[in-house]
Amino acid sequence: MASEDKGTTVTRDQLIELLNQDLAREYQAIIAYVVYSQALKGAQYMSIAKELEVHAGEELQHALTIAKHVDYLGGMPVATALPVVLTEEATAMLRADLNNENDTIRAYRQRLKQCEALGEYAIAEDIREILRQEQEHQQDLATALGEDVPDVSKPAAERK
Ligand SMILES: [Fe+2]
Ligand SMILES: [Fe+2]
Repeated sequence: MASEDKGTTVTRDQLIELLNQDLAREYQAIIAYVVYSQALKGAQYMSIAKELEVHAGEELQHALTIAKHVDYLGGMPVATALPVVLTEEATAMLRADLNNENDTIRAYRQRLKQCEALGEYAIAEDIREILRQEQEHQQDLATALGEDVPDVSKPAAERK
């Protein structure tokens, strides 16, 4: 993840590369939510399973928005997802989703600053709205796991 560590000042080409990493993460989220929303078993998980279906649709909209901005900046949107954890265990699915959302929120908080530093205010505005939805996803998952929402201002290495 060294490429995630460029600080606030990036070039336009680096921003394209970073947004493509975000896009690969959005694809991962779409796939995970499609699979997990259908594979979750157990009466206690039926309401979160419905919620995950809603997330899948929101992640698709995020992917379209990020791909649009990669194209706008003159890049080619990637076509490959980050890997998705395959498990039949409900809490392992929810944990994988929560870890991904935490990574996503960290990345978009950084991206927002990078876009603003480059004067790309319209992209920043769209990322702000995506970030708001990612935090709702994070909250839904933490609640389903019976946990407090994790503090993602800390580095990812400290995740459980
Ligand atoms: Fe997303
Ligand atoms: Fe999300």
